[in-house]
Amino acid sequence: METIIAMPLRGFFFCSFGILYLFFNSSFCPTTGYVLKNCLVTLNTQAICQKNSFKVFPKDIPARVTIIDLSQNRISILNKTPLANLSNLLRLDLRHNLISKIESGTFVVQMSLEVLIINNNMLCKLEEGMFDGLVNLTELSLTFNNIDTIAPASFKSLSKLRFLDLGHNKLRNLGNILHHTPHLQTLYITANHISTFHSWELSNKSTELVTLDLSKNELMAFRLTADIFPNLTSLNLEDGLKNGIVWEVNDTSYLSGVSKLDISAVRSSLHELQEVLGTINSSLRYLKLNHMNNNLQDLIDFSCKNPSLSSLEIRNNGIKVIGSDMLNLCTNLYLLDLGENEITKISDNSFQSLWQLKVLIIKSNQLTSVPYAIRNTGISTLDLSSNNINGLDCDDFANMTYLIILHLNNNPLLALNNCVSKDLVNLKILMLQNSRISHLNSTFKKDMPNLEVLTLFNNQLAVLDYGEFKALDNLQNLSLQGNKLEQLKNGTFFGLSSLTYLNLESNEITEIANGTFGDLKALKTLNLMSNHIIYESEEPIDYPPFAELSNLDTLLISSQRRHHRFNLPQNFLKGLKNLSVLNIKGNKLTSLHPLTFIDTPNLNKIDLSGNYLTDIPDNLFSPIQKLKSLYISHINLRSLDFLLHANFSELEFLQVGNNSFSVIREQVILSLSALNYLNMQGNSFTCNCDNAWFLKWVITNKQTQVFDAYNFECNYPPDLKGKKLLQIDVHSCTVDTDFICYISTACAVIMTIAVAFTHHFLQWHLVYGYYLMLAFLYNSKHKNKRAHQYDAFVSYNANDEGWVLGELLPKLEDEQGWRLCLHHRDFQPGKPIMENITDAIYGSRKTICVVSADYLESEWCSREIQVASFRLFDEQKDVLILVFLEDIPMQQLSPYYRMRRLLKRKTYLSWSRADAHPDLFWEKLRQALDTQEHPMGEHLRLTVEDGPTGERPDQ
Ligand SMILES: *[C@@H]1O[C@H](CO)[C@@H](O)[C@H](O)[C@H]1NC(C)=O
Ligand SMILES: *[C@@H]1O[C@H](CO)[C@@H](O)[C@H](O)[C@H]1NC(C)=O
Ligand SMILES: *[C@@H]1O[C@H](CO)[C@@H](O)[C@H](O)[C@H]1NC(C)=O
Ligand SMILES: *[C@@H]1O[C@H](CO)[C@@H](O)[C@H](O)[C@H]1NC(C)=O
Repeated sequence: METIIAMPLRGFFFCSFGILYLFFNSSFCPTTGYVLKNCLVTLNTQAICQKNSFKVFPKDIPARVTIIDLSQNRISILNKTPLANLSNLLRLDLRHNLISKIESGTFVVQMSLEVLIINNNMLCKLEEGMFDGLVNLTELSLTFNNIDTIAPASFKSLSKLRFLDLGHNKLRNLGNILHHTPHLQTLYITANHISTFHSWELSNKSTELVTLDLSKNELMAFRLTADIFPNLTSLNLEDGLKNGIVWEVNDTSYLSGVSKLDISAVRSSLHELQEVLGTINSSLRYLKLNHMNNNLQDLIDFSCKNPSLSSLEIRNNGIKVIGSDMLNLCTNLYLLDLGENEITKISDNSFQSLWQLKVLIIKSNQLTSVPYAIRNTGISTLDLSSNNINGLDCDDFANMTYLIILHLNNNPLLALNNCVSKDLVNLKILMLQNSRISHLNSTFKKDMPNLEVLTLFNNQLAVLDYGEFKALDNLQNLSLQGNKLEQLKNGTFFGLSSLTYLNLESNEITEIANGTFGDLKALKTLNLMSNHIIYESEEPIDYPPFAELSNLDTLLISSQRRHHRFNLPQNFLKGLKNLSVLNIKGNKLTSLHPLTFIDTPNLNKIDLSGNYLTDIPDNLFSPIQKLKSLYISHINLRSLDFLLHANFSELEFLQVGNNSFSVIREQVILSLSALNYLNMQGNSFTCNCDNAWFLKWVITNKQTQVFDAYNFECNYPPDLKGKKLLQIDVHSCTVDTDFICYISTACAVIMTIAVAFTHHFLQWHLVYGYYLMLAFLYNSKHKNKRAHQYDAFVSYNANDEGWVLGELLPKLEDEQGWRLCLHHRDFQPGKPIMENITDAIYGSRKTICVVSADYLESEWCSREIQVASFRLFDEQKDVLILVFLEDIPMQQLSPYYRMRRLLKRKTYLSWSRADAHPDLFWEKLRQALDTQEHPMGEHLRLTVEDGPTGERPDQ
């Protein structure tokens, strides 16, 4: 029945409206759609296609995309064909592929491309034409290829290039690099095979280079014969000079701008290095002497004599002891980095001459206590992390009132000592993570009023006292994740009135006492993931835990590890009126109370994935109007119909993968008008006409990317199990669109003429003719089964339901004993509505039409009249009983052609005129129902009334 009806309906529809489609919707006949094989388009402009075994550049990336990540694939050759559309590209990442050839002109349309990354590929030569077209390119990375040659015109188009990384290739000289790139500022040529640096190979005129990295080459000679580096500030020669280097700089002013020099791991002799330093010393500020092996002390002394030197790195030099005179020439140092040595001892007065020292890094050494040497210095940043310090003494930081940043993390501290902090009045950042601390010993109850960041994660804290952090009224960020906290007591966070971020992830919290978070008025992010929080039921609780957190923006409460069944109390989120992100993923929740989100109208992103919800209450999401992202995968959902009840007009991102629905209804998708990303990965689908609309939409819609759609699989019908959904042929489900395109164009001409004519004179004949056809089809199908299930089908408008249920129904069913058919009660759910109507009319002896102004306007009611009056015509049986609920003036009836025709031939009952004699009205109705079917034309003279307006309606 459905398909028989649907075919002519669609034919009719397409024929008459085909022309409109052709005019207004150029994509009517499907072109390439928006399903990408294995790429994810995010934010509408970024295509993430990494790790996908692509062997060629994918062809289906939409032209609007500006960023493409194709890293970690197996592309070997690039040419312009697949890139021809992508003229909006700004950034293209091709690292870790197998590219050995880039054809000439590959990038000719990428005139806006700014960043191109081809690291870790197999290029051997840079050839002419390879980069042609990249006129706006500013950054080009080509590290880890096998490049040994650069053709003279390779970089011809790259006049805007500022950054070029040619590291880890096989270049033997510097020719052709700066030929066409006059604005290059950063040049990395680390780890090539360059043995001589001759400035004339690079350029004969001054360049704009700021950073030059020649590290890890084996330079035997460095000859700078012209002032080509007036802007150079950073020169990296790490492990780049051989012993016996010839260092020739014609004029010491040539390198006079260099302020940062790295000569770490250089194997040249002391004399040679002094020569290098000598040409740079006037401007040198930052010197790296890491991994030097020998001559270290001499180099320190030599370079510290340079009064401009302010930062010195001497990492990885195997230093065990810092003697009292090791640094005594370094009076101008601001930063000293002694990290990654083997220091166990530092002489008490080692830093005494370093008046200017502010930053001291002794990270990753073997100190067992805080060195005395730091006392009475003016340092503001001290990094003692990753040593062996196994306890703190009261005087360890005595007089260090200038200290602002202190790293003590990754030491076996065990406990804190509350006298340690007394002079740290200006401390802002204190790092204490990974230090086996089990007791805070009131350290944070009285000092450190300026502390802003405190990291205590991955320690052994099991208990926090009342007011444990009460001195820290400027603290903004507190990390307590990975401890052993079990209970959060009332007042634990008392005093933390500036706290915006609190992380309690991965503790053992089972319970949040009333008032725990009451003081955290400024809190924005609260992380309670991976704890053991338990609630027994959905009943409202007396003290909703977050009631005072009206500024909270993000609440993470996923993955509670508990053995019990967990429930979310219905008022759990009470008070969170500014909450925008909520994560309650992986909680084994079996249901959610419909009122769960009643207090959180500003939610923007919700993750409910990984629960056992199966069903979502219809009105669960109705309080949330601004939701943009919904994650609801892995919850065994059987249908997406809940989306119809939510007002998700702003929803952009929907993740509903790994659920158990298999049919996606058109209405559901159409209700999500802003959707641009849909993830249904891991579902399986019914591969028949039920999903025909969805399938077509996946392929043709331009707005929403359906992630991984090419891999969707069928689970039904059984013979298609395991097949790919997108390969299913659903042409038999719909009228062939090419044919429609053809037909509609042909029809258009006729229709344009016909419509103009028909609209004026024959509007209703047309519609009527259609229903005539429907009824005819129905009739021929049901000719033989004519047992009447009901005495009368009552056709009425929803606005008149009061009268029907309050007056008509009790009278006719209860008093007079008729069996009535009412749509809200007796229609079969799920059946197409037209079919229900036809069944109801033919399944009833009579049809009572309750006529009112609303009724006449309602589309369905007028169809009911049409079908019923066709039956009258078709079966020569008068089945219609018209009951007028209100007086309807003749002029108002005039558009209702059918009604006028009926009224002309028939009589009717008027309720509005029955006030005086309601009993008479009901009796007339009884008689009308009682009469057997009369041949057409034998009018029932039932009424004493005149027409609705007092005159007989005439045509
Ligand atoms: C190149 O960059 C400039 C500024 O960075 C921009 O104005 C111009 O539109 C870009 N050209 C192209 C072809 O995108
Ligand atoms: C610089 O001049 C020398 C000698 O005239 C020449 O051999 C060299 O090719 C020139 N270098 C560049 C980069 O033009
Ligand atoms: C830099 O070193 C050279 C050679 O050692 C020396 O002659 C010169 O005076 C030094 N310049 C400065 C500013 O230290
Ligand atoms: C702190 O400084 C004061 C005065 O400068 C000095 O008397 C005191 O001994 C110092 N304390 C320590 C522990 O060094």
